[in-house]
Amino acid sequence: MKRIVVLISGTGSNLQAIHHACQREGWPARIVAVLSNKPDAVGLDWARAEGIEAVGLDHRAHADRAAFDTALAAEIDRQRPDLIVLAGFMRILTPAFVSRYEGRMINIHPSLLPAFSGLHTHQRAIDAGCRVAGATVHLVTAELDHGPIVAQAVVPILDGDDAATLAARVLQQEHRLYPMAVRWFVCGELVIDGLRVRHTGAAAQHLLADTAGGKDTT
Ligand code: GRF
Repeated sequence: MKRIVVLISGTGSNLQAIHHACQREGWPARIVAVLSNKPDAVGLDWARAEGIEAVGLDHRAHADRAAFDTALAAEIDRQRPDLIVLAGFMRILTPAFVSRYEGRMINIHPSLLPAFSGLHTHQRAIDAGCRVAGATVHLVTAELDHGPIVAQAVVPILDGDDAATLAARVLQQEHRLYPMAVRWFVCGELVIDGLRVRHTGAAAQHLLADTAGGKDTT
């Protein structure tokens, strides 16, 4: 049974999607703990209600980024995880922290990387006149939002979209994409070769597309 630790900063809707898919599909894995740099994160309460250990670790209570990352790593290591899932975890991590978990830490970013790394991705995609947007699941490396790409989801940008409507459309696809990618990882179906990630099964779908403009076609 693979042990998953999820790091969040807010609502944790991706956390919930992963947990439900894990239970529904009977993965050889379970979420053993949810950690947050925000002790009042809604997702922590949700995890506790589900019987998952949930720990708030306030980054403001630590002297600097390195001190917080050291405390966070201690908490993570206590859980002996096989996989660390960043799900809306809004902290830049130190290189020492990233290298400690390299190859077993993944993130979801709400853009089609390598375009629009960083913040305000939806508004930036609209302002740039993009006709599509999306989300990317990638392995975490020292360079922010730049690790090997596991899977991507594409949605259209519609006339009249603002950052909120586009974010909602992307998030809907994140809830399909992230559980799929985590399942591949815990089932040992991914081969990482430099920046390229291969799936061992022929039927793998690395791209999810919402061509219906928000209507879920599955
Ligand atoms: C998602 O859009 C994720 O891609 C971004 O933050 C949001 C988190 O949402 N990094 P949630 O906390 O999973 O609901």
